[in-house]
Amino acid sequence: MDLDPDLPTGDEKAEKVQGMFDRIAPKYDFVNRIMTFRLDVRWRKKTVEALQLDEGSVVIDLACGTGDFCCELEKANMIPLGFDFSMGMLEAGRSSSPLSQSDVLNLPIKESSVDGATCGFALRNLTELEPFFDEVCRVLRPGGKFGFLDVAEPENKFLNWGHHIYFDRIVPRVGALLSDKSAYSYLPKSVSYLPPYETIIQMIQEAGFRNINRKSFAPGSAQLFTGEKI
Ligand SMILES: C[S@@+](CC[C@H](N)C(=O)[O-])C[C@H]1O[C@@H](n2cnc3c(N)ncnc32)[C@H](O)[C@@H]1O
Repeated sequence: MDLDPDLPTGDEKAEKVQGMFDRIAPKYDFVNRIMTFRLDVRWRKKTVEALQLDEGSVVIDLACGTGDFCCELEKANMIPLGFDFSMGMLEAGRSSSPLSQSDVLNLPIKESSVDGATCGFALRNLTELEPFFDEVCRVLRPGGKFGFLDVAEPENKFLNWGHHIYFDRIVPRVGALLSDKSAYSYLPKSVSYLPPYETIIQMIQEAGFRNINRKSFAPGSAQLFTGEKI
């Protein structure tokens, strides 16, 4: 998929993304549940199950936003730590986990020090993917697991058509009504930042992971990458 020329890149993108999430933070969870028909909750739960980590494992949630993944990890009796660069999102959070305002491309964590990492709906918001995968690999212990959840486009032509109508026409209108017009026009477009899944798998592999798996969640609007550090 070609990148929309109107979409920002590099430092400009990071600045815009941070400002946008600061702005939409107070209503983020509410709007998210409506837009995904609460499927996002189920997808996060499946991601935590897919990690197959023991209770008591220390798991970092990268680009944690309001901490939905932290809550899910707490329910599974793991020990989550959340990292996000938007103070607005961190302040709107509801989890009781420790949170840090940090850039996930440069984590304040020692190497090989955590058991797992999750990242929800943020790959497309990062300025670069390879440095992110390298950073996750640096901080995970050998054998440590990751689960990266993000949006996807259904492969079935009919579902893809419906998906585009929903995300390109309905999401921006509902978002404008409930929250912020420019943010909810940007978010559907930001899907075009994501390379094809085969490229993502190759990047993850080159960063130093093995047993990489990609699972698509019905109706093909979300995808989960899992694997472990070599
Ligand atoms: C769509 S939200 C996802 C929030 C949460 N993970 C979830 O599952 O709902 C994307 C998040 O990525 C964060 N983000 C984007 N780039 C980041 C970076 N370089 N460092 C830290 N956080 C970042 C934004 O601040 C925002 O909270």
